[in-house]
Amino acid sequence: MAQYPARYPLAKKTTRDKRNTGGTVTTSGVPRIFAIANQKGGVGKTTTAINLATAMCAVGKRVLLVDLDPQGNASTGLGVRRSSLKHSMYDVLFGEAHIMDVVQDTKVPGLSVAPSSVHLSGAEIELVTADRREHRLRDALRGALPYDYIIMDCPPSLNLLTLNALVTADSVLVPLQCEFYALEGLSHLVKTIERVRRHYNAGLDIHGVILTMYDRRNNLSGMVANDVRAHFGDKVYKTVIPRNVRVSEAPSFGLPAIVYDMRCPGAQAYIHLASEVLRRERQMMKQRQESAA
Ligand SMILES: Nc1ncnc2c1ncn2[C@@H]1O[C@H](COP(=O)(O)OP(=O)(O)OP(=O)(O)O)[C@@H](O)[C@H]1O
Ligand SMILES: [Mg+2]
Repeated sequence: MAQYPARYPLAKKTTRDKRNTGGTVTTSGVPRIFAIANQKGGVGKTTTAINLATAMCAVGKRVLLVDLDPQGNASTGLGVRRSSLKHSMYDVLFGEAHIMDVVQDTKVPGLSVAPSSVHLSGAEIELVTADRREHRLRDALRGALPYDYIIMDCPPSLNLLTLNALVTADSVLVPLQCEFYALEGLSHLVKTIERVRRHYNAGLDIHGVILTMYDRRNNLSGMVANDVRAHFGDKVYKTVIPRNVRVSEAPSFGLPAIVYDMRCPGAQAYIHLASEVLRRERQMMKQRQESAA
């Protein structure tokens, strides 16, 4: 029986064996944690969170997708029926449930989701007066969990929910839509990341910038991509996610694009992105080991 703190009432009701462990026996380790963040709306955060997580599972990683957006698109996009939820990330943030008590299986082997609920929209205000308001998520996800990666889908705002994600994360992945205003507001995100690094989470870094919804028939996409590469250099992943209608259809079936139509260009791009992200992970780990030696 797992020993969870008494303040998690749900934790008493189940044993660790019955909990969802992403289809794999629990071998506890400390997962790497990514935040997918950009305060701009509709740039592909959720699509990236779902499909990157799925592609990582396809190469044997155990992944938990944490939905921090009250809109709940990552939850519904993975087939969660939000109306039937008893508990969600809201309860986790307010100490009413342990993270493993809200986790659900998905149709993707190895991929679990910690769903959001509409209550999260009130969390922003409730957190303002809460103790350790910036650290709530970090406290909840700290330590060993049966995943290799936790991927957090952030809301389109630099609010306290996003701040909690940045305080918790090891790395931030920033999706940028290939459109005219792509870079607008980005300095604000970068400054926020720097502030979080200074005050709360010294280890936080930008893992990379993902160019999304690239339309090769449109010159503007190419111009924006060049601009972003000039600005962020090697931080921009080589893989570019094309605009692809199959990608936008998939969530209405509660499936990742990679499961809905693995051959479509968008799904293929996310598979390439995952291998690039994991390659970068290996390089970053090597650098960390070298600088620690
Ligand atoms: N590569 C793509 N090709 C076509 N449509 C896409 C692609 N990526 C995302 N979309 C569509 O664009 C819309 C916005 O994408 P998504 O929900 O992933 O963005 P978001 O940044 O999470 O939005 P929000 O800020 O509202 O949370 C969705 O309708 C999605 O299906
Ligand atoms: Mg979203």
